[in-house]
Amino acid sequence: MPTALVTGANRGIGRETARQLADRGYDVIVTARDEEKARAAAAEVGASSLRLDVSDPESIEQAAASVSREPGVLDVLVNNAGIGSDFGVAGVEPDFDAIQRALDTNFFGAYRLTVALLPLLRASNHPRVVNVSSGMGGVSEMGGWSPGYRVSKAALNAMTRILSTELAEAGVKVNSACPGFVATDMGGPMGAQKPVEDGASGIVWLATLPDDGPTGGFFRDGKPIAF
Ligand SMILES: NC(=O)c1ccc[n+]([C@@H]2O[C@H](COP(=O)([O-])OP(=O)(O)OC[C@H]3O[C@@H](n4cnc5c(N)ncnc54)[C@H](OP(=O)(O)O)[C@@H]3O)[C@@H](O)[C@H]2O)c1
Repeated sequence: MPTALVTGANRGIGRETARQLADRGYDVIVTARDEEKARAAAAEVGASSLRLDVSDPESIEQAAASVSREPGVLDVLVNNAGIGSDFGVAGVEPDFDAIQRALDTNFFGAYRLTVALLPLLRASNHPRVVNVSSGMGGVSEMGGWSPGYRVSKAALNAMTRILSTELAEAGVKVNSACPGFVATDMGGPMGAQKPVEDGASGIVWLATLPDDGPTGGFFRDGKPIAF
């Protein structure tokens, strides 16, 4: 059975992604920074659980060591965990602490975890990495406000391009996904209406790409969008 690890999977898009992957027959590892919440969500979707705070390098090392012991291989990594620490804050009046927090979780967390799990991904016959990004991180159409969130997702997209290039020959596909404006704890208060099932399905599509599927792209609902 192929194995998938999803970060920030105790609620929202992460939990729904874990559910859809489990439905497709993946052995899913639900991870969350709160061990109890990880366990509860895992029980709900029929998965195993692991504590993982992506903003803490030590937690990343511990989680990678655990996956390395059992199951010893990873087919899918979904870097979903994310925070919006400065939504609506003006770029001309930045909160640098909030920008740092966004970078620590949304960028460094995903990057460190991907590198830590790379040996296990390389051991898979069809390795896939999905970086859950946002249209707000697309530089070509970027507007104002929310500088920390935007820069962290733009950096995550850069990581997609860098790693997908370097790992192309090894067959590791690395793509960015924008889930759209989804009615979760993050999107809901801002008026998002898109059901979480629809937000997750584009991520699951990238996580389950066939060998002739794309790499190094940025997609929403299965369609390419501009970086
Ligand atoms: N919702 C939208 O409209 C939308 C649009 C574009 C992109 N996205 C992206 O989609 C992803 C999921 O968003 P969502 O809407 O599902 O948000 P959400 O409901 O706020 O859930 C965020 C998840 O990330 C986890 N998380 C935060 N910091 C973490 C850390 N340091 N370590 C591990 N987990 C951490 C949270 O865990 P706790 O419960 O412990 O806080 C939670 O499980 C995010 O990357 C977000 O940027 C969302």
